[in-house]
Amino acid sequence: MTPEPPLALLAELTHRCPLQCPYCSNPVALAGPGEELTTAEWAGVFQQAAALGCLQIHLSGGEPMARRDIVDLTAAASAAGLYTNLITSGVLLDAPRLAALRQAGLEHVQLSVQDAEAGSADRIANLPGAHAKKLAAAALVRDAGLALTLNAVVHRQNLDRLPELIELALAMGAGRLEVAHVQYYGWALANRAALLPTRAQLDAATATVTRARAALSGRLVIDYVVPDYHASRPKACMGGWGRRFLAVSPGGRILPCHAAESIDGMVFPNIRDTSLHAAWYGAEAFERFRGTDWMPSPCQGCEHAERDWGGCRCQAFALTGDAAATDPACRLSPHHAVLAAALEEAAGFDGSFRFRRL
Ligand code: SF4
Ligand code: FES
Repeated sequence: MTPEPPLALLAELTHRCPLQCPYCSNPVALAGPGEELTTAEWAGVFQQAAALGCLQIHLSGGEPMARRDIVDLTAAASAAGLYTNLITSGVLLDAPRLAALRQAGLEHVQLSVQDAEAGSADRIANLPGAHAKKLAAAALVRDAGLALTLNAVVHRQNLDRLPELIELALAMGAGRLEVAHVQYYGWALANRAALLPTRAQLDAATATVTRARAALSGRLVIDYVVPDYHASRPKACMGGWGRRFLAVSPGGRILPCHAAESIDGMVFPNIRDTSLHAAWYGAEAFERFRGTDWMPSPCQGCEHAERDWGGCRCQAFALTGDAAATDPACRLSPHHAVLAAALEEAAGFDGSFRFRRL
């Protein structure tokens, strides 16, 4: 069956970033600056994405503001007719650059925070002063009249401050708060024992979100999904492999998922020799886990197969060594017990982070 066109493109403009978050979704083997696509190459990607049917572009990284041509790239994305979202840590944002980005057509900013408490936030980012810069960036975005989403990545070391993170989103004037539990592949897998939340923390957080959603209806939208390690069924990761989204890495690899390079043995087309259209409609890497035909038992014939699309391929690979295995987040997976074992290991862990470094 011919797939629908993608809705959005994640453009990972660079892996460079002043922060070193231990749960970064970038691959453990980061791309150096010399490998990055040029301004003209990215502009071509944006035009191809719009022609393919994408409506939105997420300018991401690494830290997209680390690209000196970020204003030109934003203008190119906007000129291609894409709704343009900047996913940023905020630490490189200042008033003149934000004004230039707005002028270039930027419509939405997604600002990440590491915690609600500055000392803890700076420790997690491994960058002194980062949190204060983020508060200043949020004020600039609000004053510029741009839509703001606050992205709070949560884990054992900050989840108890979820009420304060909600207060922070309100104080910043955000219209949306993404409470994003860490996904465990790449850097986060290397730091899993330091990051996995306990069941008690998770239950308290879920209750906090339920109360806040009721109290803040119409003021703040809160996105929140129960994390896989405490779930009995997986989420529809990426909305299903090759169904809704595609990503382009700093070096031009065209990916069905931003973490797909963590799966050993898969070969991904590169925008330098393959069009987005050819990748979306024909590349083996996109076809491999599309739909339900590839699914093993017990997914084959399962009533949830076309809702969760078998869960997450990157997680299946990270936890079983087989990207085609049933996601261990599913209680029907023969590997489901590895999640409980990881939670047990985390409960006894008091070591430190392995920080992301280029
Ligand atoms: Fe989803 Fe497969 Fe589990 Fe069914 S068996 S709920 S399709 S992961
Ligand atoms: Fe890659 Fe889920 S993170 S498929």
